[in-house]
Amino acid sequence: MPEAQETAVYTHGHHESVLRSHTWRTAANSAAYLLGSLKPHMKVLDIGCGPGTITADLAELVPDGHVTGVDRAPGVLEQARATAVGRGLANVDFAVADVHALDYPDDTFCVVHAHQVLQHVGDPVRALREMRRVTRPGGFIAARDADYAAMTWYPSVPGLDDWLDLYERVARAGGGEPDAGRRLKAWARAAGLTDVTATAGTWTFTTPEERAWWSGLWADRTLVSAYAERATAGGHATPDQLRAVSEAWREWGRHQDGWFAVLHGEILCRKEA
Ligand SMILES: C[S@@+](CC[C@H](N)C(=O)[O-])C[C@H]1O[C@@H](n2cnc3c(N)ncnc32)[C@H](O)[C@@H]1O
Repeated sequence: MPEAQETAVYTHGHHESVLRSHTWRTAANSAAYLLGSLKPHMKVLDIGCGPGTITADLAELVPDGHVTGVDRAPGVLEQARATAVGRGLANVDFAVADVHALDYPDDTFCVVHAHQVLQHVGDPVRALREMRRVTRPGGFIAARDADYAAMTWYPSVPGLDDWLDLYERVARAGGGEPDAGRRLKAWARAAGLTDVTATAGTWTFTTPEERAWWSGLWADRTLVSAYAERATAGGHATPDQLRAVSEAWREWGRHQDGWFAVLHGEILCRKEA
């Protein structure tokens, strides 16, 4: 087994304002590029599963198989277990693990999946090598990550430019790469994967409900999450600057013409048989 290595700080933490976003996620809205490759009997590893809503969907899609959700943060796994129990799923379990050093033998899983994780790790190429190692020959390695610099919105609210600049600085100071989406293909090739299908996928937030939800969770996250603490503790922003960014989010959310698109890179890689 490879030795564990110190990884990046997880920028967001697991405050309620962060989990409000994660628990909205489904296999359909976050892993559509993978779904056509799933078969009912498959054994799946979901890395960085967070509160486990995507994990639970994957378990429903492999009713004769099994899904293991792993995350480096033990606390959020309690919520993931509760999600699975609440949905009556018997073919899913959870464990603490670091993607850089997975405690599974070679060739264990049919599918190894990571959604919004590689942008937060210290060594994404090593992580992908490890994902490849535990995948069976002929199996799939699937990853999807946002690309912050490629996010776009309307109307122009100057404080949101400050948000993007601040977020990117805080994420990089923690050892992550917020513009991961565009790099996934390169990271996969550097990890030795040769059969790589690279695509892009989006989330769009524009209805009154979507704008209220998306702007509200970022307005709150900017003031009270681990990300907010890292921003001030690291000298990236003052509390007044955070309040201004938070208010910019609320201003955007109130705009009836508001439209926000989140671009993600996606890779679906087949391990050579
Ligand atoms: C943005 S959340 C994504 C959660 C879930 N996949 C989703 O999309 O809803 C990233 C998750 O990856 C976990 N994580 C960060 N670094 C990790 C690492 N090195 N190994 C395993 N999990 C990690 C974090 O604790 C967090 O729960």
